[in-house]
Amino acid sequence: MNRRHFTKICTSLIVSATTTDLIAGNEKQNYQRSLLQSGKSAPLTADSLVVGEPYIFFYPFLTTPCLLINLGNRVSSDSDNPTKNEPQWRGGVGEKNSIVAYSAICSHKMSHPAKEISFINYRHDPVSFYSQTERKTVEKSGLISCCSERSVYDPAQGARVLGGPAPHPLAAIELEYDETTKQLYATGSYGADMYDRFFDKFGFRASMEHKISDPKTLSKPRVSVQKLSDYSRQTIKC
Ligand code: FES
Repeated sequence: MNRRHFTKICTSLIVSATTTDLIAGNEKQNYQRSLLQSGKSAPLTADSLVVGEPYIFFYPFLTTPCLLINLGNRVSSDSDNPTKNEPQWRGGVGEKNSIVAYSAICSHKMSHPAKEISFINYRHDPVSFYSQTERKTVEKSGLISCCSERSVYDPAQGARVLGGPAPHPLAAIELEYDETTKQLYATGSYGADMYDRFFDKFGFRASMEHKISDPKTLSKPRVSVQKLSDYSRQTIKC
């Protein structure tokens, strides 16, 4: 049994036991270090990311989408939120520690951005949802919302589930920030990822969309970043 398989079994057990309390802080899965670039060639600099604008890139596989977001405010893993007991996830990066990235594969039924449509999106404006902790409908901004069945995740808290049927947080993508060049690298993934289940269910369609034969092909040393609104023809908001 390899390390990734063993870790996934452990993760599955934890998910069963604690459901929404689980945050994206479990052991890191190391993948290749990929430089995030703008479009096809130019390196992307952290200060070029517009606050509140959701961007998409594909990592750690050529077919697995991730959201890249500059939340505008510092995101730390040791603030007054459940991530404080999970030191592995280090919060935001960049000059203000405000840039985060998460897998964009919903942990409920794996809704994810496709070229035609995306039901999962980051919302800088207020989203109305039924809060699991407050037991009432609330409005909150700065959340990742999946409109398939209305799961809501908090990207400032390791993508903790705030509402809806999602059983656990989105996997967090580890970002590395080069203070000299201001460039960003993706280096791995934390938490209960959905990659294997995604390949089982959507691998064929994803291969067609990305024009590759194997959906499990790892991302390259450079990956392109673009606005989610430029990638998906329709982005659903709810
Ligand atoms: S797939 Fe996202 S809420 Fe169901």
